[in-house]
Amino acid sequence: MCGIIARVGSGDAVQELLTGLENLEYRGYDSAGIAVKNGDGPTVVKRQGQISQLRDVLDEDLPAGAVGIGHTRWSTHGPPTDENAHPHTDEHGRVAVVHNGIIENYNELRAGLQERGHEFTSDTDTEVIPHLVEEYLDEGHSPESAFRETVRKLSGSYAIAMLVAEEDAIYATRRGSPLVLGLKEGKYFLASDVPAFLDFTDDVVYLDDGDVVVVDADGHAITDLAGNPVDRSVQTVDWNPEDAGKSGYEHYMLKEINEQPTALRQTLRGRADPLTGEITLEDFPPGTFADVESVQFVACGTSYHAALAGANVLTERGVPAQAFIASEYATAPAPLTGETLVVAVTQSGETADTLAALRRATAAGARTVAVTNVVGSTAARECDDALFIRAGPEIGVAATKTFSSQVVTLSLLCKRIAQDVTGDSNGDVRQLLEALSELPGDLQQVLDESTAREVAEEYAGSDAYFFIGRGSAYPVVLEGALKFKEISYEHAEGFAAGELKHGPLALVTPETTVFAVFTGRNDEKTLSNVKEVQARGAPVVAVAADADANDEIAEFADAVLSIPDTHHPGVAGVLANVQLQLVAYHAANLLGRPIDKPRNLAKSVTVE
Ligand code: AGP
Repeated sequence: MCGIIARVGSGDAVQELLTGLENLEYRGYDSAGIAVKNGDGPTVVKRQGQISQLRDVLDEDLPAGAVGIGHTRWSTHGPPTDENAHPHTDEHGRVAVVHNGIIENYNELRAGLQERGHEFTSDTDTEVIPHLVEEYLDEGHSPESAFRETVRKLSGSYAIAMLVAEEDAIYATRRGSPLVLGLKEGKYFLASDVPAFLDFTDDVVYLDDGDVVVVDADGHAITDLAGNPVDRSVQTVDWNPEDAGKSGYEHYMLKEINEQPTALRQTLRGRADPLTGEITLEDFPPGTFADVESVQFVACGTSYHAALAGANVLTERGVPAQAFIASEYATAPAPLTGETLVVAVTQSGETADTLAALRRATAAGARTVAVTNVVGSTAARECDDALFIRAGPEIGVAATKTFSSQVVTLSLLCKRIAQDVTGDSNGDVRQLLEALSELPGDLQQVLDESTAREVAEEYAGSDAYFFIGRGSAYPVVLEGALKFKEISYEHAEGFAAGELKHGPLALVTPETTVFAVFTGRNDEKTLSNVKEVQARGAPVVAVAADADANDEIAEFADAVLSIPDTHHPGVAGVLANVQLQLVAYHAANLLGRPIDKPRNLAKSVTVE
């Protein structure tokens, strides 16, 4: 959580820092601040609230400086106030620091500093850092040495950038929180994520845990904490700045929903050939998984729902597979052997719960694969192998296009695993590949013809929204409910359709709108469950293929959100999910919710 940016080089830093912070706002948005060097020492401006509020303050009194740092916060220690906003400084304003992560030993460090006479102005864990640096500077250390000595004292997770009065340079490091370096002819950026500086450069160095970076206008140096040089290559990212902008849409979420046909074409490019029935997955040629005996998926939130879909594909083909909520897995890992493959599904590649689960699996000797959207992310680098979903940058806190790309990527990966494990080279692969080749076009049809907005209007004001489905529809209804609750703040729950009668049916009244998802398999049983809720007076919205052909579904449903007939339940689930994304979006929009920045949430959850 939290986003940090730093910038050094020719020209003024402030506008570029603000652009960077706006591009990072998805990581936190309860307060923001910058510090720039303008001769005497860092000038700090910070405010509670969104970055637009910081901009208003800066418009009135704009500091100048070519070197600066910035931060957008998602509170972990102390409420979102001006005092708790970053950057934090020492008592004399010599040192300014921005930090993403948690300093776990801050209580002990703070107590020691207080005993030595330091006074603190915030509740944050971060504030100990500039105070420690100040002590080392007072002892005669150079800024770089003071920074290194301070970092040696920290435990926990952090990405830190520091500015000091003495030098026109930035000092930065990471451990457990992301930090990337952007380079452009005499200008350098450090940030939590690439979109922060994509407007200025696409040349990137992905830093590793323990790297210490010093940048000034003349260049950059990357070393380990002891000062030994480390070699990190420069990579050019193929995202363009428009991909990270809103392109005229009112919200990133709506833009990203509409980008799904393009995202899926990218996901599928070169990987699926319906004519030959062949799957080509970069680092995973046939035979890669021949030794695998079982598969465990670890993931959180939307990615967990995609993982459930992946586990379904494997169990259907007779490969033992299970999806785990990563935080539970990290607490109590499932038993595994050296032949267990652990697949971490994470859009960002930085989710702390997923990384913790992954590390438990690695320590137990499992082979690991990351399925992620972010090249250079921690998950991609810590796993034995990585498979990228290629959805392009996703800014909206509510994951949309990455879910579709995850499900499609996992369906290909799981078919490859199943082929290797069972030795059955064909199976039902061709049917999947045919449905996937039509998917971008089918999805465009859903986007063009959806009546989700009318449905959202019709059922606005319900007491609760339930989502039910079976088999391949089950992950979809969990995801539909998550999307609905996180952006509308209305009560929404997803249930296995058959489970409803074992308890949740007690909650169903005429004021409970029930969304029932049909994917072409087990539809009759789901229809029985629909009849059960209708008997209690609940309105039912069916999400189903070609309503005309499904006369019985259309007869019982109060409304139908139609999807093209794919003849493949897994692929039908992706289309049904898009209808539910649109319903959630329009319901939240009608309620005037801040759709891209839902309360209490952040895009990348880097705390456990
Ligand atoms: C989904 O809309 C949420 N933003 C959230 O559940 C998210 O999917 C979860 O935090 C996992 O994130 P990851 O894919 O980056 O690991």
